[in-house]
Amino acid sequence: MSKKIRISAPGKLMLLGEHAVVYNRPCLVTAVGQRMVVAIEIKDSHTFELEAPDVKVSGYTKVISDVGKGEIPKGAKFAEIAVKNFFEKNKIRDGLKITTRSEFSSQFGFGSSSASTVCVIKGLSELYKVNMSNKDIFDLAYKTVLDIQGKGSGFDIAAAVYGGTLHFVTGGKKIEKLSINKLPLIVGYSGLKADTVTLINKVAEKSKKYPEVIENSYNQIKKLVEIAKTYLIKEDLQSFGEVMNMNQGFLEVLGVNINKLSSMIYAARDAGAYGAKLSGAGGGDCMIAIAPEDKKQAVIDGIIQVGGQYVQVETNAEGLKVESLKK
Ligand code: MEV
Repeated sequence: MSKKIRISAPGKLMLLGEHAVVYNRPCLVTAVGQRMVVAIEIKDSHTFELEAPDVKVSGYTKVISDVGKGEIPKGAKFAEIAVKNFFEKNKIRDGLKITTRSEFSSQFGFGSSSASTVCVIKGLSELYKVNMSNKDIFDLAYKTVLDIQGKGSGFDIAAAVYGGTLHFVTGGKKIEKLSINKLPLIVGYSGLKADTVTLINKVAEKSKKYPEVIENSYNQIKKLVEIAKTYLIKEDLQSFGEVMNMNQGFLEVLGVNINKLSSMIYAARDAGAYGAKLSGAGGGDCMIAIAPEDKKQAVIDGIIQVGGQYVQVETNAEGLKVESLKK
């Protein structure tokens, strides 16, 4: 049996459809070039060890029978509950050492928790020779995320597993990889960390007060996602940008936009972007813009001028990958 494995998975950026996708609507998501890399080693000890320096977890150890029990530090939750779920499902209880390393900051909202969850499950399935399809990995990783945060569509897990650019419906009801070229996406980080569950709850509150308005907004966002998909396939980026701007209007209705993101979005549009919007939960994290090549630098400069941080990304990145396997 192999004893040690290294797995990587990409981060993600939501293109269109955030929040509505939590409520049975579709979204468009792209996998980014920055990856999460997870090493897993089977140990003779009866302990679970985790080193995750990017989320400030170091020297974390507990006996394997306690995995998933007691107080778990925030940065350890996803890897630990992924192990618990995999071990329970396959009736395994070995000592393990897991080390995670991220090529992107966990502050960006690129989905570091989901990517590490997916890597742990894939790594364990390879080490223990448990045959799991991509959909099986998606399902167990999605269960893990729901066990921890109770809410979420699973779009970030799908991006980590499948890679590429996906047309995705809540819970993996549909996961379609689009055959498109890389997108000239410009990404600006707001410098503010957003908490997804807090923002989902904020929208849920709004929905209690204005049920019809919010439901109608989700329906309009769904339409925009479908239109945007056809523009992406036709490579009509100008129209795609226009649809991004319309989606941003509905995110304003949902109440998840903030001043800083707005400044960056308008700076991008003023500098010649076809379209710009927030990406993800809102309340912080990143905004994205699509611009013609000759306007790219001006858009980046505009974002920086209003205090945003430019983050270089490649879109359409490869999904889950076994980096190395040692006996
Ligand atoms: C967060 O990045 C995107 C949301 O739609 C949540 C989700 O889909 O899980 C707000």
